Amino acid sequence: RQEKDHIRIGFSQAMTTDEWRQQMDKSMKIEASLHPEVELMIADAHNDVATQIQDIQSLLDSDINVLIVSPIASEPITPIVKKAYKKGIPVLIVDRKIEGESYTAYLGADNIEIGRTAANYIVANQSGSGKIIEITGLKESSPAYERGLGFSQIIRDYPKVSVVATIDGDWEKGSVKEPLKKILAEFPDVEYVYAQNDRMALGAWEVAQSMGLEHQLKFVGVDGLNTPNGGIQLVKKGMLEATVLYPTGGNEALKLALQMYQGETVPRRNLLNSIIINKMNAELMENQMDKIDQQQYIIDSQQQAIRVQEAQYTTQRNLLFGLLFF
Ligand code: FRU
Repeated sequence: RQEKDHIRIGFSQAMTTDEWRQQMDKSMKIEASLHPEVELMIADAHNDVATQIQDIQSLLDSDINVLIVSPIASEPITPIVKKAYKKGIPVLIVDRKIEGESYTAYLGADNIEIGRTAANYIVANQSGSGKIIEITGLKESSPAYERGLGFSQIIRDYPKVSVVATIDGDWEKGSVKEPLKKILAEFPDVEYVYAQNDRMALGAWEVAQSMGLEHQLKFVGVDGLNTPNGGIQLVKKGMLEATVLYPTGGNEALKLALQMYQGETVPRRNLLNSIIINKMNAELMENQMDKIDQQQYIIDSQQQAIRVQEAQYTTQRNLLFGLLFF
């Protein structure tokens, strides 16, 4: 049996190979460390659907009070999430969605809007052929569909711009390379590459560079991380023309999970803000994010110092008890 006021939050994370998800986990852990009553259990599914289903089952078996899930793919993860929800466990879906309505709340940026933002940017800045190559994320995951949908909703109203080819990527840059080489050989006058995340945008840039086309093409990505190869730095280096910020929402997810545990009514759809980042505001965004990183670092060090003190206190107390009673 669980003690009173001990809250177990289980998070089924899709994978942790990329920095975007590493940051999500990190900010969730930092938020959790501010609540001593919270035990956060993170299961990493290594981008494997079967593993993610097992992970969620094991979290349920460990008597979690709230379940957070970032599903690899919508459809196959839906039944196990439904099972949790039917058991009465509050379920928070983050970033990628499931099918149907069997969850308590969703948290993430509006991916349709992200697609529209990227398209509006390209439409406004296009000055050449207006030909675009689109690179999508993993088809079975909702952001890929939504970022594509929003993009096409805008593009179709502008006769001067058109998507001449679409590459089915899988969110990782390896999936981009061979198909892009072929397409660029066929359409040498392409003006823009819209990749649904920055990792694939970087992959596309590398292909273009290997063909001597990196200055002729313009690249727009999504994510906008402030890491050495993250979107903000790629924009600052001039490799990407723009990226659309896609916040991970790690700390917001934990806060929401706590509210859900406490039985508060939370909105079903919780939106994280997004913004287009290009050379005009990349530095500003970088500074803002550096500040957040610094604050997280300070919180983290303070928490560690407290743990050390607690450990020392326990040893001293045990010593004292030993002296007094033996
Ligand atoms: C990280 C990631 C991001 C992308 C998101 C979509 O694993 O691929 O780059 O924005 O997932 O769910």
